[in-house]
Amino acid sequence: MTLTSADIDGMVGAALSAISSATDLDQLKEVRIEHVGDRSPIAKANQSLGQMDPSARAEFGKIVGKAKGAIVATFEARQVELEAERDARVLIEERVDVSITANRTPKGGLHPLTILTNEICDLFLGLGYRIAEGPELEAEWLNFDSLNIPADHPARTMQDTFFIEPLESHLVLRTHTSPVQMRTMLEEKPPIYVICPGRTYRADELDATHTPVFSQVEGLVIDRNITMADLKGTLDYFARSIFGPDVKTRLRPSFFPFTEPSAEVDFFFNGRWVEWGGCGMVNPKVLRAAGIDPEEFSGFAFGMGLERTLMVRHGITDMHDIVEGDIRFTQNFGSGLR
Ligand code: PHE
Repeated sequence: MTLTSADIDGMVGAALSAISSATDLDQLKEVRIEHVGDRSPIAKANQSLGQMDPSARAEFGKIVGKAKGAIVATFEARQVELEAERDARVLIEERVDVSITANRTPKGGLHPLTILTNEICDLFLGLGYRIAEGPELEAEWLNFDSLNIPADHPARTMQDTFFIEPLESHLVLRTHTSPVQMRTMLEEKPPIYVICPGRTYRADELDATHTPVFSQVEGLVIDRNITMADLKGTLDYFARSIFGPDVKTRLRPSFFPFTEPSAEVDFFFNGRWVEWGGCGMVNPKVLRAAGIDPEEFSGFAFGMGLERTLMVRHGITDMHDIVEGDIRFTQNFGSGLR
């Protein structure tokens, strides 16, 4: 069978129409096998040139070559076109909205009291203090006697303190963090610089300003030549760090059995003086009870309530909000998602 140039035209026509009717890359691939590839009619026509009479071969070869070139060029153009269409479609169909809010499971967060405790610990760590902790169930001797609080002191009545049965165990739920002072002094030699955060207990009813379980932070410094000026400077720094650079503090004479002299520390915030906590120079009797020579060392201690600190700083008016654990409250402190 000899091919004519009309046959070649037919092949070109069939190939071009198949190429233009391929609407996606898969179809175009089939068209390629059928009309462009090694077993396509035009490829076979090309191969048949070898058996042709040399006189006819040159001319027919040109016709076949031109036809093949036209098919390949059309094929490639269509390929580029369909690839562009596919790319455009993929961009739309497989679009990912990276700005969409994911449905995150809240991991929980820190209670504002914990956040405040961490803040206070951090600032005292920055001053070179160490964190000291003690048990909440405390020996009566450490909570009271060693701190020079005598047996007939009103703080030691059943109305004020949770005693643990049997009474002969002499265990109480600690009424303040001050027993950690004594524990620290018994365990370590001065110089001592510690900050003691912790939960404390008093037999109060829960109301807007009281809670039977509350938190304190106690500071204790024992070193050579420690004076009340060091105490005042430390409290000023503490108050400014917690309430802002403009806050003022003042000391008012007071009495605590374990400090001498003793004072109440107040701070001036939002136009009023607020009572913050107790402080003073560690009573030489207490130093002696801990085996520290008061002729060589002196020190100061202070202790304040964290609930009150939090309430004043954030304008919280009801203690219930702090103790009840409603996350709608705690989320206001940025502790919703962690
Ligand atoms: N422990 C005292 C209280 O709970 C506070 C205090 C601490 C006072 C340290 C003086 C020194 O009220």
